[in-house]
Amino acid sequence: MEKRTISFSPPDISELEIAEVAEALRSGWITTGPRTKMLECRLAAYMETGKTDIDCTTAEAIKKYSQRVVCLNSATAAEELNLRILGVGPGDEVIVPAYTYTASASAAIHCGATVKFVDIQPNGDPITHMPEMNYEALEQAIGPKTKAIVTVDLGGIVCDYDRIYSIVERKRGLFTPLNDHSNPLADLGSRIQAGLGRVAVVADCAHSLGASRVVEHTGKGKMEKKRRYCGSIADFTDFSFHAVKNFTTAEGGASTWCLPESVYEQGVTDAEIYKFYQLLSLHGQNKDALAKSKVGAWEYDIIGPWYKCNMTDIMAAIGLRQLDRYLGLLARREQMMKRYDETCDELGISHMIHHVPGMDSSNHLYLIRVPGIDVEERNLIIEKMAEAGVSTNVHYKPLPMMTAYGGDCSEYPNAYDYYQNLITLPFHTLLSDEDVEYVCETLEDVVNEVRS
Ligand SMILES: Cc1ncc(COP(=O)(O)O)c(C=O)c1O
Repeated sequence: MEKRTISFSPPDISELEIAEVAEALRSGWITTGPRTKMLECRLAAYMETGKTDIDCTTAEAIKKYSQRVVCLNSATAAEELNLRILGVGPGDEVIVPAYTYTASASAAIHCGATVKFVDIQPNGDPITHMPEMNYEALEQAIGPKTKAIVTVDLGGIVCDYDRIYSIVERKRGLFTPLNDHSNPLADLGSRIQAGLGRVAVVADCAHSLGASRVVEHTGKGKMEKKRRYCGSIADFTDFSFHAVKNFTTAEGGASTWCLPESVYEQGVTDAEIYKFYQLLSLHGQNKDALAKSKVGAWEYDIIGPWYKCNMTDIMAAIGLRQLDRYLGLLARREQMMKRYDETCDELGISHMIHHVPGMDSSNHLYLIRVPGIDVEERNLIIEKMAEAGVSTNVHYKPLPMMTAYGGDCSEYPNAYDYYQNLITLPFHTLLSDEDVEYVCETLEDVVNEVRS
């Protein structure tokens, strides 16, 4: 086969996104404004129903879906604000899987909390092979200081939330809610924690917009087994719209929440939660630029010395048109994935399984593990693939191996084993069928060469 150049994950931007960005630029409103609000409403409708075509201009849709999702400038900011709204701070512990990207853990550290890592299951989940937390270890790790568990739906595969919720329910006895009513933000966090009465489930869904799973337990606490989309499962969820993600706004992300009735019984309302995301993401200023632009409405107050991580309408313009195309993009990913699955199965290479009864992934990352090779051989495969024009990657080097987290993985042997023979194949919707064939053939040649 003739040599091709296959990049790892370029953004799939069509003329539709380009035209909408141009419209936004011409509209006279380029920072957070009507397009961001529309994207928030449409994303909420998508997370609730799985549909991307709900008309968010109708009074009914606005009532149901607006102020339920907050668009921000990254998933990292979204997770940090989720934890801040929840009242996580110094003295608290947040449990994070050892096998994830730094943002899952650093957001908790930004809030002043301590991160406790939990190893993954040996070789990941037995069915999907996703590097999912070892749930026995998770249960043991929960202590009196634990305020949240960050679950990571890695590659788009949805964790076993029924199991996670039953663990946090069993550990209710250890949980002491924050009791600080000295300022409005701490008061909100205290009421949310009192209403939860247990460790919160804070999902890192950076990869998993549109993924779904049949679950019984959800943040909402209804014991009803049904398919739910990421964003409607955990107590709090963050998403990433970074350039390499399935759904992009160049940089960007979003937060949402799905809380049990017992939280609302504490006097918490969705409008109050939404207002605090706005305040936290915009300097603590009680009027955004759009509200201030109304005649005579210049005056504002600063409620807290907070952060700056809002989404602009230029970013939202990209997102609106990406959302129109998103179900098609997911379907194309699933189609390409079948070809990769066939090749890996023929070569005896283990891969994550993105679709199983009751769980459909967002098909974000294609992780493979070549049996019997060590780190040097894995790196050699990566080099040889690159020489043949195929960019690959590694998701991830376990966090405890990183300097910032101590540089020692010895307490997380399953995470290390998973990492040492792992390669992420290029996987995106700009790949043609011929490109996919080329990746498969190159993989076969290189793996056979390194194995021989
Ligand atoms: C698992 C995971 N969480 C969080 C993030 C952070 O996303 P963002 O770059 O939007 O902050 C990433 C980014 O790649 C990620 O892979």
